[in-house]
Amino acid sequence: MCGIVGYIGKKQAAPILLDGLSKLEYRGYDSAGMAVYDGKQIHMSKATGRLKVLSEITHEGATLPGFVGIGHTRWATHGAPTDSNAHPHFNETETIAVVHNGIIENYLKLKKKLIERGYEFHSETDTEVLAHLLDLYYKGDPLQAITKVMHRVEGSYALGIIFADHPDVIYAVRKDSPLIVGKSEEGNLIASDVPAVLKYTRDVYFIENEEIARLSEQDIEFFNVDGEPVEKEAKRIEWDIHAAEKGGYEHFMLKEMNEQPKTVRDTINPRIKDGQIVIEELGMSDEEIRAIRKIHIVACGSAYHTGFTAKYVLEGLARVPVEVDLASEFRYRNPILEEGELVIIISQSGETADSLAALRMAKERGCQTLGIVNVVGSSIAREADQVMYTWAGPEIAVATTKAYSAQLVAQYLLAIKFAQVRGEIGETQVAELLRDLKKLPDQIEMLLSHKERIQKYANRYLASKDVFFIGRGIDYAISMEGSLKLKEISYIHSEAYAAGELKHGTISLIEEGTPVIAVATQDDLFKKTLSNIVEVQTRGAFVMAVTNAGNTEIEKTAEYVIYIPQTNPYFTNSLAIIPLQLFSYYVAVGKGCDVDKPRNLAKSVTVE
Ligand code: G6P
Repeated sequence: MCGIVGYIGKKQAAPILLDGLSKLEYRGYDSAGMAVYDGKQIHMSKATGRLKVLSEITHEGATLPGFVGIGHTRWATHGAPTDSNAHPHFNETETIAVVHNGIIENYLKLKKKLIERGYEFHSETDTEVLAHLLDLYYKGDPLQAITKVMHRVEGSYALGIIFADHPDVIYAVRKDSPLIVGKSEEGNLIASDVPAVLKYTRDVYFIENEEIARLSEQDIEFFNVDGEPVEKEAKRIEWDIHAAEKGGYEHFMLKEMNEQPKTVRDTINPRIKDGQIVIEELGMSDEEIRAIRKIHIVACGSAYHTGFTAKYVLEGLARVPVEVDLASEFRYRNPILEEGELVIIISQSGETADSLAALRMAKERGCQTLGIVNVVGSSIAREADQVMYTWAGPEIAVATTKAYSAQLVAQYLLAIKFAQVRGEIGETQVAELLRDLKKLPDQIEMLLSHKERIQKYANRYLASKDVFFIGRGIDYAISMEGSLKLKEISYIHSEAYAAGELKHGTISLIEEGTPVIAVATQDDLFKKTLSNIVEVQTRGAFVMAVTNAGNTEIEKTAEYVIYIPQTNPYFTNSLAIIPLQLFSYYVAVGKGCDVDKPRNLAKSVTVE
């Protein structure tokens, strides 16, 4: 996600901004920019691509002289990665410059109103509305203008703002996106994350939600959303730079697992408006949705597992036939693809070679294509007819967690939308499904908070050689992902089996102490899976189970039981996967594995 840096002090600002932005590169970005006040006016430089390009075009900051400035690395969400969409953004008179991290959910409405008032827009970003809105409300008092803007905008934001009329201060504002203030002898700083300021100071203030900071060279003041002063104390940062980049977490994977409530919320919330699902980017009319005769979901790795789950949801709710394929198989199996069929390609990176090839093949054969992609502007995002973004932000750990969760909920939204348009479900059922969907982020948060217990269980498995995951229906899909997570980061051999299929061969491998992880979240299949659990347990298996709260009967057979809160049966993957991710993580940590960079694996597989 975007990175923000700001500086006001005794030194030249631009080199400090470039240095700070370089410490935020890990967040992922596709363009960068800076705005610096030179004593008379604000000057700006922006460049698509790496920070090196911005550094070169500004001669390492020398072409932007001045002691006050803001800088930004942009991870594109609204609008492609281009110079004009890069931040900072100006108001019309170039007297207010803004950098932003987050998403302004009501930006279209605000943009329309601003255009009606004569404001001209020069980018496709949601951020530019902030610059013009500040301009609209600015009557000489920046703080007043900022609080008015905060009352108008919905969504998440961390902002750095400079006003040419008030060149002795920088403003920083925060709601649901990170922002900190660093206090140093040589001047004060703002940043999205601690590493950007650690070279200058270890004394840091954490801005809370809906708070504003005003920094001058000497002072730092804080205000609430009503402009009233707030007292804050600086905290001394003791972490080393490497740890701080992970926001204090030991591994990126742990950090990203903990980001899942936000990721799921960010993928769902902007697409539910007045109780209805609005997927603007789908670009399909209701008639076209009704005309879909078949859906093909094609992906690799964990993305494939989300598609495997979505098959149950789409077929169950929308009653449309769904085929799910591994992209590497699909592209060579000469699939039957006909007009009226929709091909959905799911990919975090948007660059996976097999998925991209499958997309191209589907297009050649005249199918309508939809990409569910995380990286904006990636190949699959560019080439698919339509693209639905999962707003998970950059994922660094090779083993995916938050992008997986976002892909799941994106497909739940599609399934509900298709089911409603095709007349398979009515208003009441839509309302019930949306109610459960909206509860997922808090429920995920609750499951994440039980990590100590999962860690205790995980320690029991450090010497395991083989682990079997079993489940039926959606629980089989969950088992596939749970098994993949375990093998990819802990190097323990594991297999996922459809529980009913065990007795056709695999049960011969069960002996005294064999670890079996059973997933039983589907009420209509619970009794069946329970029988399979008893079958393996009587042959000596050591069973851990993941099931719904209330299914205490399972405790008679399983040694460890993890309960997930009640949700719609179609959504249980989003909850049951959380303890399984934590489990794999703690097994890998316990074994001393390189969790974030497992051997032989790559985050983005751009070769066949
Ligand atoms: C790699 C990653 C997996 C990912 C798969 C598909 O194997 O390690 O985490 O699920 O590629 O990647 P994509 O970017 O297309 O989702």
